[in-house]
Amino acid sequence: NTPLRLGIAGLGTVGTGVVRIIRQKANLLAARAGRPVVITAVSARTRDKDRGVTLSDYAWEDDPVALAKRADVDVFVELMGGSDGPAKAATEAAIAAGKDIVTANKAMLALHGQALAVAAEAAGRVIRFEAAVAGGIPVIKALTEGLAGNDITRVMGVMNGTCNYILTRMQSAGLPYAQVFDEAAKLGYLEADPTLDVGGIDAGHKLALLASIAFGCQVNFDGVTLEGIEKITIEDIRHAADMGYRIKLLGVAQMTGRGLEQRMSPCLVPDTSPLGQLEGGTNMVVLEGDNVEQIVLRGPGAGMGPTASAVMGDVMDIARGARLPTFGQPAASLAQCQTATSATP
Ligand code: HSE
Repeated sequence: NTPLRLGIAGLGTVGTGVVRIIRQKANLLAARAGRPVVITAVSARTRDKDRGVTLSDYAWEDDPVALAKRADVDVFVELMGGSDGPAKAATEAAIAAGKDIVTANKAMLALHGQALAVAAEAAGRVIRFEAAVAGGIPVIKALTEGLAGNDITRVMGVMNGTCNYILTRMQSAGLPYAQVFDEAAKLGYLEADPTLDVGGIDAGHKLALLASIAFGCQVNFDGVTLEGIEKITIEDIRHAADMGYRIKLLGVAQMTGRGLEQRMSPCLVPDTSPLGQLEGGTNMVVLEGDNVEQIVLRGPGAGMGPTASAVMGDVMDIARGARLPTFGQPAASLAQCQTATSATP
């Protein structure tokens, strides 16, 4: 059986996790895919660094674009991050060179997903991005496959583990925002640019991607009404608790008579509800459809194992021959949905 050959660009936490899974589970993956899944080449900013995995079996490229174009690569696995720059250039080069794409890059897809999907689908290639939304939770698979027989009515959830950690810790330890923010920084939870987390931007990227799939709209991050958690005080949290509520950075996307409403903002949720009970760095996504009514998915939204798990789910789909369109239907057929301007609070 012909092996599926991967080129992995980016060997940070997630890339290293993917290498680890493929090295540890080669036989299991081959049995499940019906063909071997192998790495042929890798690329990262720094070559000489101990990542705790053996890389000497793979060709090395300093330049991710060169990796993307290699003849011995079938799938370009983009785990570099960043909405523009090398990640986007290498993804475009990979599509032009006839590769399928697996990426964890929510910022790139939230801003350029429509153009990339159109290019990929015109070239007969697929882009898969399960790891970009809610880490280890297979929410994109749930929407595009398991719920394909539903009109989706609403998607909502907690999609940034760092913000959930900060809000939960403020509540449980009675500590002010600034102190818990510093703790989160020391624990390495924050993105290199912390505004992506606490400004709600990272979660907004994820919501825009889910909304596109759920409602058949072109991904529109500019249409997300964004409010972060920076202004939440310990008093806000105490008052909410006195009334039986928790404050969560909650994303909601729904189609209204006025257009598509996408909102990522701190919300009050009942403290006994599943969302209210969500602790620490966990994510929760609630999907509602006309036939299924409501399903709740909960799990780790970040970290090596969970995010690499989601990347591997996409790799395995491609190995098995799945050719799903990027946003659940052909990108050229996605509507340019109007943004609901005066969204209800
Ligand atoms: N900073 C993100 C989070 C990482 O805290 O959820 C996963 O996207």
